[in-house]
Amino acid sequence: MINSIKKTYYSEEQLADIVSSLGKQISEDYKGKNLLLVSVLKGSVIFMADLMRAITVPCEIDFMCVSSYQNGTKSSGVVKIIKDLDINLEGKDVLIVEDILDSGRTLSYLKTIIEGRNPNSIKICTLLDKPERRVVPDLVADYSGAEVPDEFVVGYGLDYDEKYRNLPYIGVLKEEIYSE
Ligand code: IMP
Ligand code: MG
Repeated sequence: MINSIKKTYYSEEQLADIVSSLGKQISEDYKGKNLLLVSVLKGSVIFMADLMRAITVPCEIDFMCVSSYQNGTKSSGVVKIIKDLDINLEGKDVLIVEDILDSGRTLSYLKTIIEGRNPNSIKICTLLDKPERRVVPDLVADYSGAEVPDEFVVGYGLDYDEKYRNLPYIGVLKEEIYSE
């Protein structure tokens, strides 16, 4: 697996620092609130697991699964709910936890669905942001861990064709793997 990686963007240590500072900031901002972390499956699972342990205020968690990508590296623009939330959102301060903000289509769609369910508030926390790729211009993350350029990255939950999620760092695959 390591032989398939061309370049590392964020090492395990750097990711731990990023997650720890996001956790601190969120813990400050959500004091006395009804925090509900909504993880967007599957890409955000590792980030979610680390982030929730870096949060020191009480919180609940739930999971939602949507698909916006077929099997490659380009967004289809179609977002489909595969698994919905179990928790009623009324009165909750929802924080959507996402692996990467790319075109913004997925989060824009999710935000609209969640807004319709009357939460007390709704914000977005993304580990990575690819601002160059945005097609929904007014979609901004309230919390963002780090920026990446317009390159397809894998690891720490992010996949290429469902693989490489278990890499403990964020990197870019060699060209020959994407073209296989
Ligand atoms: P968006 O709707 O275009 O913002 O796409 C967001 C989703 O696309 C993310 O949650 C990821 O699952 C996937 N995605 C976007 N860029 C990458 C990448 O560089 N590597 C892996 N997955 C990505
Ligand atoms: Mg995702």
